[in-house]
Amino acid sequence: MKRTAITGWGKSIPQPVVTNEELSTIVDTSDEWITTRSGIKERHVSHVQNSDMATLAGRRALAAAGRTPEDMDYIIVATCTPDRQIPSTACYVQVKLGAINAAASDINAGCTGFVYGLSMAQGLIATGTAERVLLIGSERITSYLDLDVRSTAVLFGDGSGAVVLEATDEDIGIRSMTLGADGGGAGALTATGLGTEFIGTDAKMQVVMDGGEVFKNAVVKMGECTLEAMEKAGWEPSDIELVVPHQANIRIIDAVRRRLHVDESMVYANIHKYGNTSAATIPIALCEALEEGRVKPGSNVVLVAFGAGFTWGATGITWGDRVDPIHIIPDELPEPTVSGLEIMRSRQMVFQ
Ligand code: ACO
Repeated sequence: MKRTAITGWGKSIPQPVVTNEELSTIVDTSDEWITTRSGIKERHVSHVQNSDMATLAGRRALAAAGRTPEDMDYIIVATCTPDRQIPSTACYVQVKLGAINAAASDINAGCTGFVYGLSMAQGLIATGTAERVLLIGSERITSYLDLDVRSTAVLFGDGSGAVVLEATDEDIGIRSMTLGADGGGAGALTATGLGTEFIGTDAKMQVVMDGGEVFKNAVVKMGECTLEAMEKAGWEPSDIELVVPHQANIRIIDAVRRRLHVDESMVYANIHKYGNTSAATIPIALCEALEEGRVKPGSNVVLVAFGAGFTWGATGITWGDRVDPIHIIPDELPEPTVSGLEIMRSRQMVFQ
């Protein structure tokens, strides 16, 4: 059976930034509260559609892999904030990229979407349905925030990260996969106002969360499934170079690290810059870990996530020889004409 290896990676972060201090001017909060409770210092807010961010992240990942859009057999976009419910965001990305040979679909597993997407890509490759898959985790989740609800308004940000996955005969790539879900957790983390359930109601479009419940479950499940993914891969903690966890809260990341008994230097965190970008946190963090030389040729890396559903998942990956992109493209998202704060503020008006 063919193995599945990551051969390209890229990210796309919208330029508008909102710092905690700036956010405190429109939300009843403070830099001190946000920093100590979550580790977040700032977040990016998108001025373009989710599919525009996703397309640029995808183009960068393709360049890094030395591949063209036409080389892709399948595009998966992991997102819970699609441009539209129909068609999938992946179809928008497919046409924006010109990936004329690719099938395309979205996957929604909340913040676990990227890990679920990896398992889907692995299945497509193992069965020979696809040789090359572009997987993108991409979210414009700030659109779902009600700025009057300060416990959620401060936690999230927008962004996109992508990987190219290819079939390989080498002894590298995805070594283990563990996934789970508990739909009983639905009420603890949900978005209201969107979906058929709300037709004819005046429900606001917003993220609704029981922070404490999510926190507790995230720590337990991320710890458990990381250990399970390591066991399935036959790894001890000393065999791993890096854990890239979903970035929801630095205190969740720290608590998971303590459960795994691994050193702080082995766990990647960039939540201070982006907040929780849901399905995009892991591919963005993976890109930055590569840019910073934290992933070496042959490194064993664990990716682990927890999200709405509840859902959770972890995977053990052995990196190949190449940790540098083959090509880098200079393209950027269009220059924004308004500030991040103005974008967030204008969304607030939607709720009034
Ligand atoms: N600014 C100032 N005060 C605030 C804010 C804010 N932004 N938000 C809440 N508070 C207040 C509350 O009103 C409360 O005040 P009170 O005691 O007077 O009633 C106080 O702060 C404490 O609130 P708690 O909810 O107990 O704060 P806690 O320490 O639990 O932290 C948090 C809250 C950050 C939401 C935490 O529970 C958490 O991170 N949970 C996980 C949530 C998460 O990661 N969600 C995203 C996950 S989604 C995903 O990734 C799948």
